[in-house]
Amino acid sequence: MAQGMERRWVDSMAEAYERWLVPTVFRPFAVDLAGRVGETTPGRVLELAAGTGVVTREIVRAVPGAEVTATDLNQAMVEVGREQVPEATWEQADALDLPYQDGEFDAVACQFGVMFFPDKRRGFAEARRVLKPSGRALVSTWDTVDTHDFAAALAAGLERAFPDDPPTFIATVPHGYADPDLVAGDLRAAGFDGITIDRVTLEGHAPSAADVATGFCAGTPLRPQIEARADLAATIAVVAETMGERFGPGPVTGRMTAYVLEATPRT
Ligand SMILES: C[S@@+](CC[C@H](N)C(=O)[O-])C[C@H]1O[C@@H](n2cnc3c(N)ncnc32)[C@H](O)[C@@H]1O
Repeated sequence: MAQGMERRWVDSMAEAYERWLVPTVFRPFAVDLAGRVGETTPGRVLELAAGTGVVTREIVRAVPGAEVTATDLNQAMVEVGREQVPEATWEQADALDLPYQDGEFDAVACQFGVMFFPDKRRGFAEARRVLKPSGRALVSTWDTVDTHDFAAALAAGLERAFPDDPPTFIATVPHGYADPDLVAGDLRAAGFDGITIDRVTLEGHAPSAADVATGFCAGTPLRPQIEARADLAATIAVVAETMGERFGPGPVTGRMTAYVLEATPRT
């Protein structure tokens, strides 16, 4: 994959992500993370890698009265997010170079975004910089592919579609920062302390395996990896068939595991 492509959501990828993937894969964890953000009733919340706003919406609900700023690297995501959650202030921003002053926020939240940062410690150091000394960072990362029923079925489908050269994006990027001790070490190196780690397993539901297959293949940076090899629709059909064999016809349910880390600035 060309450099940087693994973190680019462009054009219709944002809508496909929001439509096919968010309700099944991201919303269950968004509700959980927003509940954690709300535990200390922060006044100003910054969200990093907010995508299309699934966590943003839940934070707005969970922390009424909070001033929520949602940011993402990719303008296509910001545009969908702004439409979805107009109550938040939306800005395009790279988490590695935040356009905010030191100590502006009471909480920084980032769901399933840190894996995409080319320099994790720099991203965490930026979060640390913009937090008040009394603030809190909350970040989540996926556990390995085998702990995620949908990602594991997707990987099997891609191996069937491309037996000689399956795309590696899902295993190496979203599921490639799956050691919570490594994440905690990076947080510590960036100036955080008081780190807690929770392993969270939740269920996701979708109307069909084909919905999930479409979401992963058309709504993530897996898409250019597929398009470099074959026709997108034909590949989605193979992946959907493989997933359907695992999950059966009709509505599907999968278990998914992630790590949620909380940390406070070292003073
Ligand atoms: C898997 S999505 C998660 C989005 C959202 N947090 C959610 O839970 O649906 C990963 C997001 O990270 C964003 N991203 C990747 N690199 C980034 C960076 N350096 N700074 C900010 N956002 C980034 C992508 O644009 C994408 O929206």
